[in-house]
Amino acid sequence: MTILVTGGAGYIGSHTCVELLENGYDVVVADNLCNSKREALERVKRITGQNLCFYETDVRDEAKMDEIFQKHNVECVIHFAGLKAVGESVAKPLAYYDNNLNTTLTLCRVMQKHGVKRFVFSSSATVYSAGNPMPLTESSSTGGCSNPYGWTKYMCEQILRDAAAAASAATASEGWSVLLLRYFNPIGAHESGLIGEDPLGIPNNLLPYIAQTAVGRRDKLPVYGNDYNTPDGTGVRDYLHVVDLAKGHVAAVKRAVQSPCVEAINLGTGEGVSVLQMIEAFKRVSGAAIPYEIKDRRPGDLAVCWAEPSKAVQWLGWRAQKTLDDMCADTWRWQKQNPNGYPL
Ligand code: NAD
Ligand code: UD1
Repeated sequence: MTILVTGGAGYIGSHTCVELLENGYDVVVADNLCNSKREALERVKRITGQNLCFYETDVRDEAKMDEIFQKHNVECVIHFAGLKAVGESVAKPLAYYDNNLNTTLTLCRVMQKHGVKRFVFSSSATVYSAGNPMPLTESSSTGGCSNPYGWTKYMCEQILRDAAAAASAATASEGWSVLLLRYFNPIGAHESGLIGEDPLGIPNNLLPYIAQTAVGRRDKLPVYGNDYNTPDGTGVRDYLHVVDLAKGHVAAVKRAVQSPCVEAINLGTGEGVSVLQMIEAFKRVSGAAIPYEIKDRRPGDLAVCWAEPSKAVQWLGWRAQKTLDDMCADTWRWQKQNPNGYPL
């Protein structure tokens, strides 16, 4: 079975390509490399000993996507391609709406044309409204997003629900399967240390910043606030290993193939970890020093955010397996082996 993976050269996409290939799927990647390097896909091939088909293209290029669907018998699409930096989305909202909405719309049109009915979408915990009680369930309230990036995910979820509903109403044949996977905080790397997260410039997210501090690329980790209403005053999140997350996509593909469904599903561990707990775990596992400095709160940050993960067990038969120590050890192996990320 052939799976089209948009954004397959990126952080989560490359790990998902590995899991798909190892589960016997044929993989076609469409990525314009705006936030990734071709080398990631070379390493996917090295890890798996298998080949995949790569198209360097913008997913908004409808003619090119049409050509890909003509050439390959795509049976399911996993749509990772998108822009994801929250701060940048505030500065460049139009670029974010254009990229994230139009990639999704283009894919829907091309899928409709070619009769492809299975769509697995990279959504995010960011679609949940602030003020929900924890843990977040799939029926917690959504919307009221604090930045354009979050709104693009919220809007894409709606576009996909509407497209699926229209397709089912219009045809007597089988309807669409749409799985809206709401990721919590993916971290870690493949255990080979060959692929991992390779952010451009100063990292926005906690784990890449910790890893770059541990390896000496950054002087000090800024800890954004220690006066939250949490056990140690620092922010609490639900971190999950990117390989677990990748396996969640394989489970989602299998579910999509079984029978039509339209479901939002949290992918998280259900465990909250604070910034200081993460620094401690990383220090213990790596043996490296991680100097840090308490700073003001980061605007837009929540005190706590973690998932109720049982719907994923029920619908996908998926549950996160890896521990916090695995997440730190694998991040550290990737960082040590690739102190400056992928070569150009
Ligand atoms: P990433 O930036 O590493 O990967 C995204 C990939 O999409 C990159 O390879 C980029 O080159 C490609 N891309 C972007 N726009 C494109 C376009 N128009 N056409 C073709 N390719 C394009 O990001 P990631 O962390 O792997 O995230 C993957 C998806 O998961 C994104 O949609 C992101 O919003 C979502 N997500 C990520 C996180 C996270 O913490 N990493 C959390 C929740 C949701
Ligand atoms: C961020 C995004 C969110 C996105 C998620 C994906 C913001 C406001 N939110 O969420 O939309 O879905 O990434 O992974 O950017 N921290 C530090 N020092 C740092 C970096 C982070 O103390 O240098 C703290 C943060 O304040 C937070 C925790 O670490 O408490 C996690 O931060 P981060 O990795 O950026 O993830 P989120 O804030 O959950």
